[in-house]
Amino acid sequence: MSVARIHNARMRDLVVSAEAAAAFIGPGETVAMSGFTGSGYPKAVPMALAQRIEASHQAGQEFKINLLTGASTAPELDGALAKAEGLALRMPFQTDPDARKRINSGELDYIDIHLSHVAQHVWFGFYGDIDTAVVEVSSILEDGSLVPATSVGNNKTWLDLAKKVIIEVNEWQPEDILGMHDVYYGTALPPHRKPIPLVNADDRIGQHTLKVDPSKVVAVVYTNAPDRNSPFKPADADSKQIATYLIDFLKHEVSKGRLPHNLLPLQSGVGNIPNAVLAGLAESGFRGLTAFTEVIQDGMLDLLKSGVLEYASCTGFALSPEANEEFKRNIKFYRERIIMRTQEISNHPELVRRLGCIGMNGMIEADLYGNVNSTHVMGSRIMNGIGGSGDFTRNGFLSTFLSPSLAKGGDISAIVPMVSHVDHTEHDVSIIVTEQGLADLRGLAPRKRARVIIDKCAHPSFRDALNDYFERAQRDGYGMHTPHLLPEALSWHQRYIDTGSMKK
Ligand code: COA
Repeated sequence: MSVARIHNARMRDLVVSAEAAAAFIGPGETVAMSGFTGSGYPKAVPMALAQRIEASHQAGQEFKINLLTGASTAPELDGALAKAEGLALRMPFQTDPDARKRINSGELDYIDIHLSHVAQHVWFGFYGDIDTAVVEVSSILEDGSLVPATSVGNNKTWLDLAKKVIIEVNEWQPEDILGMHDVYYGTALPPHRKPIPLVNADDRIGQHTLKVDPSKVVAVVYTNAPDRNSPFKPADADSKQIATYLIDFLKHEVSKGRLPHNLLPLQSGVGNIPNAVLAGLAESGFRGLTAFTEVIQDGMLDLLKSGVLEYASCTGFALSPEANEEFKRNIKFYRERIIMRTQEISNHPELVRRLGCIGMNGMIEADLYGNVNSTHVMGSRIMNGIGGSGDFTRNGFLSTFLSPSLAKGGDISAIVPMVSHVDHTEHDVSIIVTEQGLADLRGLAPRKRARVIIDKCAHPSFRDALNDYFERAQRDGYGMHTPHLLPEALSWHQRYIDTGSMKK
């Protein structure tokens, strides 16, 4: 077995198979793993653990764990453990179809919290003890410190708090990633917190490596396997239109003097629309842009390569196979322009507010007054989770929500009388964009917001029905500040559940 990436003698002695490492994890444990949006997650131990769990179940023994990560992972982790029915609790974010199915059928408890809260809530003891940490790294240095892989997420917290630690050293990860990370060890518990000394998105305030107490390391596993590598989907016409509205708006804000010529640090969610915005920025004439975000996807690498984006701060990647090859091939170039932080820093409310980030996130639906649902279909079925969107929406300079105006072939309107679940309140949301147009809600009282959202963002096939609801709510509702007809407010969702369409 190769141990070329393990430069510490004691750690070399701990190399075992994934099966032997998984045997250190017992039923009922709280296991904290690395991984953020399909990057830097352990690839061998979770699969071996899933096999062990299946074997236990076949022998009639209960075996489930509570699983904490940075954010979403991949089929080898969330998928394998969900399929094995090995998860009792999942926190804080997932996108896996098997896990989602079990969450929505009530078999798996899911706690969906802001990504900036995860580390501190675990430090506060809200989730009990961390029994085992399983963390993927790119290499282990001679002094035993760990070079993180393509995500940092909550790894610092997991390594600090876990009673025992399993490390996966993945040879697929670029070894020259050393130097890209900035792991900050200055956070403390209240009331002893101090300001975080970061005033520019590219400030370095920490160290390149993660610390681990060697006495806690029980196993080291060698792997050579790629990150999730979701294929890149070219932007469709709606995504391009949404991107155009948003970029025109940003130019307008520059012309009014409300934004500098190179904007403010960008935060970009993952998916087609954010990628289309990034592609649009490449041709927009903007220069000297910066990013303070969670995830770097293909579009951001392109912006870095073309020089439109000067640098980006993140905690993980979500790249296509081609972009991954580009990243690894030119790792030295990207190491000068990308800083990877722990997610308690990449999403920190203090920093998002200080830097004045521009948040760009997707949504499931928004209502007449600007409340946004990012997570729950028909109020009940989880799609993914809130992720970091709330960290940037509440605290950024501008919060924008981007979505097509229709879903499910036109049966669902993304603009509804009342959202069926609230992730981002009307108090936090400043801009909503669909392929129909852009609603600028800043400075508008609720009824004025409703007018702009219907006129600019609703699809024409639902506009009359929204106008009808809004007019009757103003006439017959209980009050004129935020008029509603309560028996009807969620009737569009009920109609979809009953008939398969929100249309009458
Ligand atoms: N009602 C019902 N379903 C809806 C819907 C609505 N109003 N809007 C979207 N959907 C469904 C789509 O049909 C699609 O379903 P499918 O997978 O069965 O085809 C799914 O939601 C994803 O929608 P899509 O249009 O492909 O957009 P997306 O991939 O950009 O995802 C969110 C949109 C809201 C689900 C996604 O942005 C998200 O999870 N956001 C929350 C987390 C976040 O903001 N993270 C940012 C920091 S990384």
